[in-house]
Amino acid sequence: MMKYYYAPMEGITGHVYRRAHHSLFPGVDKYYTPFVTATHTHSFKQKEKYDVAPENNEGIPVVPQILARDPEDFLWAASYMADLGYREVNLNLGCPVGTVVKHGRGAGMLSDPENLDRFFDAVLGRWDQAGLSGVKLSVKTRLGMTEPSEWERLFAVYASYPLSEITVHARTREDAYRGVPRLDVYGEILEKYPSLPLVYNGNLFTKEDLALVKDRFPGTETFMLGRGLVADPALVRELRGGEPLGKKELRAFHDRLYADLSETMPGTAVVIGKMKEYWVHMGAMFPESAKQLKAVYKARTKVEYEGAVRVLFNTGRLAERKRSLY
Ligand SMILES: Cc1cc2nc3c(=O)[nH]c(=O)nc-3n(C[C@H](O)[C@H](O)[C@H](O)COP(=O)(O)O)c2cc1C
Repeated sequence: MMKYYYAPMEGITGHVYRRAHHSLFPGVDKYYTPFVTATHTHSFKQKEKYDVAPENNEGIPVVPQILARDPEDFLWAASYMADLGYREVNLNLGCPVGTVVKHGRGAGMLSDPENLDRFFDAVLGRWDQAGLSGVKLSVKTRLGMTEPSEWERLFAVYASYPLSEITVHARTREDAYRGVPRLDVYGEILEKYPSLPLVYNGNLFTKEDLALVKDRFPGTETFMLGRGLVADPALVRELRGGEPLGKKELRAFHDRLYADLSETMPGTAVVIGKMKEYWVHMGAMFPESAKQLKAVYKARTKVEYEGAVRVLFNTGRLAERKRSLY
């Protein structure tokens, strides 16, 4: 049985988005939250607390993702999530942002596999004591910092701990989000560790992309999708054999998101700014509407924005999306 996860995306897949998506396009097996940071202060920012609060995630299969460096802080954060009722927490080992990496978090943790080993040893050694028995620990990792061959030492570490799932974004930190993911390297990992619970992630934008990866790696049954799902919110339904996205339902989804954000965010400018972050990805659904999309990006006021969106939906034609992985 194939499983599909919604990737964590900071600034994109917050609780308002998750609720709208889950209610209009049900069927995603898990939503990972954008990372929350476990700091020495052992407190989360208000925004992070809202994002994981159970009342904001009712009925949605959500997994909190934690960015950390110190075992102590990670255990605190994991216990916080367990107290809220979560039964899985995910460790971010991939965030490429400079300040994050500099502080030894995210992809920064990949630069020192021995330290990573000590991290898991300390965390899992005290897992039960911290009240976490019954809570799964999963990770989301890149292949390494600079060289894809770094995966060998990193996966030797992962393989020696009871991680519930290991999502592999098949790029290095240096690759950022560029180019085609390193499928050959993913294949090497799968070959060396056929029984690790790997989840494939990277550039799954269409049904054809998924078929290609599935074909090449029949051993993988679980896939995580990010940008492709933001562009086409119906992609998982289509992957499961359902109808491809229709223009009317994309409009309905847009309007729901816009309305919900307007209720929760302070001021039109902030809401429009946020909507434009979605359009960076959703715009790909209207490949023939460059001019109309430009008007959406340029809109400053509520009247301008709503007008530009109306024109785009009235005149635009949804893309026929084919293979994009190659
Ligand atoms: C805007 C943006 C925000 C992201 N935020 C996170 C994050 O909070 N945590 C994380 O592990 N990955 C984050 N990622 C990486 C995605 O989860 C995913 O690994 C990456 O986009 C590749 O998958 P895709 O090609 O399906 O988008 C982010 C990516 C983007 C583009």
